[in-house]
Amino acid sequence: MQERMISSELQEEDTSIELSLRPTTLKQYIGQHKAKSNLGIFIEAAKLRNESLDHVLLYGPPGLGKTTLASIIANEMDVQFRTTSGPAIERAGDLAAILSSLEAGDVLFIDEIHRLPRSVEEILYPAMEDFCLDIVIGSGSSARSVRLDLPPFTLVGATTRAGLLTAPLRDRFGVLSRLEFYETKDLCSIVERTSEIFDVLIQSDAAVEIARRSRGTPRIANRLLKRVRDISQVRGEEEISLATTKSALEMLQVDPAGLDHIDHKFLITIMDGFNGGPVGLDTIAATIGEESQTIEDVYEPFLLQMGFIQRTPRGRQVTPKAYEHFNREVPEA
Ligand SMILES: Nc1ncnc2c1ncn2[C@@H]1O[C@H](COP(=O)(O)OP(=O)(O)OP(=O)(O)O)[C@@H](O)[C@H]1O
Ligand SMILES: [Mg+2]
Repeated sequence: MQERMISSELQEEDTSIELSLRPTTLKQYIGQHKAKSNLGIFIEAAKLRNESLDHVLLYGPPGLGKTTLASIIANEMDVQFRTTSGPAIERAGDLAAILSSLEAGDVLFIDEIHRLPRSVEEILYPAMEDFCLDIVIGSGSSARSVRLDLPPFTLVGATTRAGLLTAPLRDRFGVLSRLEFYETKDLCSIVERTSEIFDVLIQSDAAVEIARRSRGTPRIANRLLKRVRDISQVRGEEEISLATTKSALEMLQVDPAGLDHIDHKFLITIMDGFNGGPVGLDTIAATIGEESQTIEDVYEPFLLQMGFIQRTPRGRQVTPKAYEHFNREVPEA
């Protein structure tokens, strides 16, 4: 797949800057008011009782700040932050080793937790529920199971696909937090915060423009700002201006609603090829040469949120709002 300027997925160029941009306290974490206030209360209560925090599941589209929030939880609880991911743990023994190295109260972050192999997942059940580890020693008729105690810890799981989690795993999380796309005003604060860290000045209408075109996603906002800053500096501006921002974003092929050429291709294919739909996901995927999975996880959530498409039992349908966006007439049914 080609890299998209407005992909919400982590790209090579993001990794170097994301660490420095990552807020470290709940207070610095902009937006997501519901998730934040919930977690704030649970954290305070756990600290008052001197207990470890209940297990937390964070879910939502890529780039909305799940990893960031997980590290904030550890920081606010004043405990170590240990990280791993579903695909990185291949065998039950790998997870057992990680679990037995935890210290009391630690946050263990498992990214992409929906990708944990089933045999590994089963180790987690007693670990999450009773803080213990059941391991089998020996084999054949001499095999016996021993139970090891673990220190109390907090598992923070993150996933873009909560629907793929098995029920027994999902049920073991005490706190389920869904991250939402950010409002423009919150993204605007993020852009302003990032420009302070970058040590560049940005006019407020320029910050709003970047925020509006960032698909509700902080990762995209930061990436667009970085590109716009480069162009502004080359132009010798002392402050990033709205005019430069607009022309830079046009150059990067990000339209005023934050859609790029692939979104356009997706929507226009449904309009032109299928009279607006409904059309099955696999059919569109084959037509535009992208994977169904990628369309579903990365492209569609924002198009749905914006009301440009609808999911119907018979497939995807383009809405009148999308026709309007392209200055087209809605066809007769
Ligand atoms: N609430 C926020 N306030 C300020 N910056 C944020 C916020 N949320 C995310 N960011 C910025 O966005 C970047 C991406 O966030 P993060 O890596 O936490 O997303 P993610 O949901 O874990 O993504 P993925 O699904 O790809 O793992 C962070 O480096 C941080 O700079
Ligand atoms: Mg992450």
